[in-house]
Amino acid sequence: MVSVITIDGPASSGKGTVAKIVANKLGFYYLESGAIYRALGFWVNKNVNGKDVNVDEIVALIDSMDLSFNDGEVLLNSEVVTMKLRDEYIGMLASKYGSIAEVRAKLLQFQRNFAKTPGLVTDGRDMGSIVFPDAKLKIFLTASASTRAERRYKQLQQFDKTATIEGILQDIISRDEQDSSRSTAPLSYDSTFELLDNSDMTVDETVNRILELYITR
Ligand code: C5P
Repeated sequence: MVSVITIDGPASSGKGTVAKIVANKLGFYYLESGAIYRALGFWVNKNVNGKDVNVDEIVALIDSMDLSFNDGEVLLNSEVVTMKLRDEYIGMLASKYGSIAEVRAKLLQFQRNFAKTPGLVTDGRDMGSIVFPDAKLKIFLTASASTRAERRYKQLQQFDKTATIEGILQDIISRDEQDSSRSTAPLSYDSTFELLDNSDMTVDETVNRILELYITR
């Protein structure tokens, strides 16, 4: 069986950074599932242009998406969209459309196909609960909202100088609320997960803790 490590958690808990390094150290594949939902948000937005859209139309739009990942870049129908997907507005759309059961069902197999030998590290909201419930190691990675807002602020400084910590904190809180309260695949964990609060941990410490947990499985 292919070894899978899932890292779920709220916005800006450092999942992506940590998951990428863990995958690299183990020589595993890496899947950022949030990029799939962000690409969907971007694609729907681009195609409906502010008009109302129903579930059938969203599901049909998924069929017109040719999404691939190459060397850290996200390609959507041959266009490199990596940076465009980082926008917080696109994150909100990802969260909005990601709350639809039909959308999640449609994206399930696409995500499972990334589990290939020698292994996969993947991050998101429901990777351990729904997509890979039998993963060898399931992490729930979190940090205080203020720590996460500061991290996001530092990240955003590279390309959006207008962002404020207060604005980011509000965005993070409302996206977490939306992701945790939805009825389909809410952000949650249970006793089959390892809970890791990395508010006071460095990236290296978080990576080492996950590797330690993995080795002892
Ligand atoms: O991880 P990231 O913040 O990029 O994800 C953007 C949004 O996509 C999340 O707020 C969440 O609503 C949605 N998402 C999801 N399930 C996943 C990954 C992301 O619903 N597995």
